[in-house]
Amino acid sequence: MAQHQSQADKKAWGGVFNETADPRMEKFTESISFDSRLYRHDILGSQAHAKMLAHVGVLTNDECSQIVDGLDAILRDIEAGKFEYRIELEDIHMHIEKALIERIGDVGRKLHTGRSRNDQVSTDFRLWTREAIDVLDARLERLQKAFVDRCDADFDCILPGYTHTQRAQPVLAPHYWLAYCEKYARDRERLADCRKRVNTLSLGAAALAGTSIPIDRFYTAQLLDFERVAANSLDVSSDRDFALEFTFALALIAEHLSVWAEEWIWWSTVEFNFIKLPQKFCTGSSIMPQKVNPDLLELIRGKTGRVIGDLQTLLVLVKGLPLAYNRDLQEDKLPVFDAFDTVSASLELAADVVAQTELNRENIRARLEFGYLDATTFMEYLIKRGVPQRTAHGMVGRLVRLAMDRKIPLAKLPIEEYRAECPEIDETVYEILGVENAVRAFVSYGSTAAEQVRAQVDEWKKRF
Ligand code: ARG
Repeated sequence: MAQHQSQADKKAWGGVFNETADPRMEKFTESISFDSRLYRHDILGSQAHAKMLAHVGVLTNDECSQIVDGLDAILRDIEAGKFEYRIELEDIHMHIEKALIERIGDVGRKLHTGRSRNDQVSTDFRLWTREAIDVLDARLERLQKAFVDRCDADFDCILPGYTHTQRAQPVLAPHYWLAYCEKYARDRERLADCRKRVNTLSLGAAALAGTSIPIDRFYTAQLLDFERVAANSLDVSSDRDFALEFTFALALIAEHLSVWAEEWIWWSTVEFNFIKLPQKFCTGSSIMPQKVNPDLLELIRGKTGRVIGDLQTLLVLVKGLPLAYNRDLQEDKLPVFDAFDTVSASLELAADVVAQTELNRENIRARLEFGYLDATTFMEYLIKRGVPQRTAHGMVGRLVRLAMDRKIPLAKLPIEEYRAECPEIDETVYEILGVENAVRAFVSYGSTAAEQVRAQVDEWKKRF
């Protein structure tokens, strides 16, 4: 009997139990080791809940103040490192509620009126995710700004553009930089869109069906700055779409980072030698004294796998779960926290790498005439003179072959060779041949033409 009482005393839900919890089970099922991260959100949610209960007359104003103040004191304790976490108390919700009861006595026992941990955890997690989205948005903006801030200084630099990793057409360096800004702009849009659905109040759904206590969920929503109140208690207590969407957005950011990291890893090799990475973001080799390795970029690329894994974990976790809450859902936080920590750290460091990397302009310039980057512009020159595209393609192909055999750029072929291939060609051909001329020839919206890129850079500057 003594044992039964101790179990009932120990657990908030102990009443019906007459057997003590197996400590191995407690260890296996606890979530405090990771959901302690939600302490601030849990307290915020509880304070709003108490205020709502006072608003509808379920709590007196005095009871509400005691609860709100007691929770504030707990918050201070946690932040001062004066709060003890214990596995038997399972999760952050139980810890804070127990601490409140210890602090203010029986009034604390009224806090859990008209709610359940099922809507509580969902509320905490939504509050946390909303904040996380705002952190990411600021970091994405900082990274975009690092790219935009380079554009003026790098404006005169022409880089080879690639398809199939083969030299294709010339591209202004700022065109590259803004390409990344566009990707991150879509990431920010995606997060903003996801934020709308995150920003939905679950509290008051209670365990799954709602409550017979006359709560006012719209009042709670106002207090917590939620845009809407979930309309179906059964749905919202099982809903983790917001966490999955958020993690998908993170996975796509990680993908975008990995594309850039891969590119800059290549660009920093002796083979490319386009950029010099800041040494403070590189490491050496334990055996090869000459090595300066781009480990940071490699790990940004590598950690993408982890974030994709986090998304996969969540997708599998929710698959086939019947309505409404199931304890499986407790496992949702680990992958979301991991994906967020990984991506936010990557973004933070990426911005510094972008800002501090130098272009090896001379080396880029010296090899720009290799790879016939002007061939397509030359073909378009012929099209503008009335040669059908397919015919022009063949002519230019043959002239490129001729230049390749002689190991010279197109601009070095004598006019006779051009005339022999195509009588429409005259001396003006030399005005469009060569990489600089080829870049100058672009006119279409969104292209790498200097006016286009200049307009885009100005547009981006205005946004910040
Ligand atoms: N720690 C739990 C979680 O994260 C809180 C909800 C527990 N609900 C329950 N009925 N056992 O999901």
